[in-house]
Amino acid sequence: MNGLKITGLAATIASIVFAGYALAADGKKEPIKPAAKDHPLDEIWSGYHFTTKETKAMQDDDFANPGMTWFDIGETNWSKKDGEAGKSCASCHKPSDMKGVAARYPIYDDKLKKLVNIEERINNCRKVNMKAKPWKYDSNDMLGMAIFVNAQSRGMTRNVKVDGPAAEHFKKGKEFYYQRRGQLDMSCAHCHEKYYGQKIRMNVLTQGQSNGFPVYRLKWQKPGSLHRRFKGCNKQVRAKPFKTGSPEYLALELYLAWRGNGLTIETPAVRN
Ligand code: HEC
Ligand code: HEC
Repeated sequence: MNGLKITGLAATIASIVFAGYALAADGKKEPIKPAAKDHPLDEIWSGYHFTTKETKAMQDDDFANPGMTWFDIGETNWSKKDGEAGKSCASCHKPSDMKGVAARYPIYDDKLKKLVNIEERINNCRKVNMKAKPWKYDSNDMLGMAIFVNAQSRGMTRNVKVDGPAAEHFKKGKEFYYQRRGQLDMSCAHCHEKYYGQKIRMNVLTQGQSNGFPVYRLKWQKPGSLHRRFKGCNKQVRAKPFKTGSPEYLALELYLAWRGNGLTIETPAVRN
């Protein structure tokens, strides 16, 4: 993509603030979301804000959004029986039951005694309730179902809870976020807190928010899970990535979701 004509300083200036609105890099007015009091950022912005006009248009139109192909995969699998129990998701849930789930996940599950995100929840239902094999994170089946489930919350405001038993995971996630790592000795905060809005190679750095996941990435030519994105960002600083679904990434996912409390769910978002 060579649509990114705006370099760091210009992109920063392009976010000119007026009466509760900011002008995005493409001149579109977007509401400013002030961050909570104890938040490290003054304003929170979805990755949408930093992307090109063409990419935004693709995301905004369900017929042009390439992520919707995976939504269709999810919708088909929703009522397809699988596993020894002879059940499908539709045996127990209505799609409308999924409304709001993406806005409050990940959550600490008292029964499982662990933090669960959408992928873990889907796999748990497959294992326990359907007696079916779990899906790998970035398989088309899992991407499809995660997009189908999360898209039921499109337009809803993210509001994850980080108190109670989630608190220790939140703390671990925060430590991970600020930990310098890899040969470049950089933390997530270096790129996504300190330098967001600046250009790095072909990309404008965003705040690294998770409200559009699984996102369709034009560079990947398919959607990817948030944990795949974490791996990619770890590799960019030449640090060893963790496994998808690892406790480290789940804690990071919770912390990142909290940083985006107040943003709207955009799944399936489109990103460069
Ligand atoms: C036999 C019934 C059954 C089937 C089949 C089933 N689930 Fe569930 N699901 C449950 C129950 C019960 C819960 C409540 C949490 C728990 O204890 O597992 C749940 C919870 C969930 C949640 C979390 C909802 C929330 O509000 O936190 C999601 C998401 C979910 N299921 C998705 C799925 C998907 C996707 C499928 C198909 C791949 C599926 N489930 C198949 C019974 C089922
Ligand atoms: C060397 C810079 C760099 C570091 C360090 C880095 N990232 Fe990124 N990250 C990027 C780039 C470049 C992109 C693609 C453009 C963008 O969204 O910022 C990206 C994208 C993302 C996105 C996708 C945002 C969206 O809207 O789709 C998330 C989430 C993310 N990073 C999280 C993290 C986390 C968590 C860490 C720490 C483990 C991290 N990043 C460390 C450079 C970095």
